[in-house]
Amino acid sequence: MEQPWEHPDWYDLHDTTWTAGPEREPEHYRELVLALPPLDAQDHLADVGAGTGKLSALIARGYPRLGRVTLVEPNLSKLERAEERLRTLLPGSGVHRVAAGIGEGAALPQDGATVAVVGSVLMPVMELRGGSLGDGLTWLRAAVQDVAALLTRDGWLFDLETLAAPWARGSEHDPVRRLTMSELTGEFVRAGFRSVECVYRFRDRVILRGQTPRR
Ligand SMILES: C[S@@+](CC[C@H](N)C(=O)[O-])C[C@H]1O[C@@H](n2cnc3c(N)ncnc32)[C@H](O)[C@@H]1O
Repeated sequence: MEQPWEHPDWYDLHDTTWTAGPEREPEHYRELVLALPPLDAQDHLADVGAGTGKLSALIARGYPRLGRVTLVEPNLSKLERAEERLRTLLPGSGVHRVAAGIGEGAALPQDGATVAVVGSVLMPVMELRGGSLGDGLTWLRAAVQDVAALLTRDGWLFDLETLAAPWARGSEHDPVRRLTMSELTGEFVRAGFRSVECVYRFRDRVILRGQTPRR
């Protein structure tokens, strides 16, 4: 049988239930906060593709003594909202913003972050940029290198993503698509991240972590 949904029993069981719906999002984000090491005044969090700061705000609520936050986001209005939010939540901390994207050759801060979080950025941005899977991977590899360069020597990356369905197909010349778990894990390993591990999964929702590549 070519596709699982051609099987009548599989179809009746699954129908539209493969993807974890929006009701799972709070759990997904909360699990990222729970997966983090303890954060304090000496820590520097980089929120990459910060959007309006939803993820770093959640982290700031859990770790109000967090020393420093850098928000990296190409959309200026979102970035302003994120900065405002973080300054309110962490009045005694350094909150910095960088109006740029990753994977685009922009000048980004280097070596400063003890923890970098990427909240639903790599897969959606790769897909939205269009083109072939090969084009997507070229961007993704540059983006992952940019994230690695933001981190200090023993820093940690936490990446929250929504993956491809397990039956997604297509190689480098086919249209871009989200990656499977093994493909995304492989990209972090390829970039030199150490101790790459999945710390949460519910259907298509995952969190991967990895430690700064040795330089
Ligand atoms: C789905 S939103 C997630 C926002 C936020 N991290 C969150 O969890 O709510 C994806 C974000 O990535 C940003 N983005 C687009 N291109 C980007 C790039 N090249 N580098 C970093 N962020 C990018 C978008 O502007 C958008 O704010």
